[in-house]
Amino acid sequence: MKKFMISAVMALSCLTAMAQEVIKLPAPDKSVAGMSVMEALSKRQSVRSFTSQALTDSQLSLLLWAANGVNREDGRLTAPTAMNRQDIQVYVCRADGAFLYDAKAHALTRVSKEDVRAYVAGDRQPFAKEAPVSLLVVSDQRKFGPRPSPDYGRLDAGYVSQNIYLAATAMGLGTVARAMMDREQLAKALNLVDAQLLLLNHPVGYVKSE
Ligand SMILES: Cc1cc2nc3c(=O)[nH]c(=O)nc-3n(C[C@H](O)[C@H](O)[C@H](O)COP(=O)(O)O)c2cc1C
Repeated sequence: MKKFMISAVMALSCLTAMAQEVIKLPAPDKSVAGMSVMEALSKRQSVRSFTSQALTDSQLSLLLWAANGVNREDGRLTAPTAMNRQDIQVYVCRADGAFLYDAKAHALTRVSKEDVRAYVAGDRQPFAKEAPVSLLVVSDQRKFGPRPSPDYGRLDAGYVSQNIYLAATAMGLGTVARAMMDREQLAKALNLVDAQLLLLNHPVGYVKSE
């Protein structure tokens, strides 16, 4: 009994430590992006071949800010959401684990120590696990209160997805919006609840020329 209690306390403190691990991102430096919105629109395309070269903290910071960061003093975001419910959550998956992007703190909170990129890729598109970073776009339906709206969630996710496309393009990186992924394994690894809809993922990295 005593052994069981000690193991339970250790497991609990491990979990608490993991839940509290927060990585503060550098302030987004917009000079990392080298083109106008019009140029980025001209060049936007889906990329499905990546090198394994890691992104710098500065690149990740700007990418996440552009995707769904705070852009006004009242806490509103770079992407619109229905009724400003701010239901979209962006998870960052890379070799050292998975993290939830906290837009207000501009920080990453660790949710797993596991490399879940193989679950992001799924069985049919192994190229996706080669990218150094995959962003998951999730709609947290709890933000809609008593009237959840998967439709609004999907629309809100689309804006974030396009922000990711344009930011990646402007930063000289490639990405593709993907609906394909192993949702069951990802939900388990990231401890998602049913109300968190895993809508899209975006592998992001340097483009590998064929
Ligand atoms: C909702 C949505 C889901 C998508 N899912 C996938 C996917 O699972 N795998 C993939 O390789 N591309 C996926 N795509 C990318 C499309 O195939 C791509 O946008 C389309 O072929 C047009 O090419 P372009 O983005 O280069 O213009 C998806 C795009 C959207 C908008």
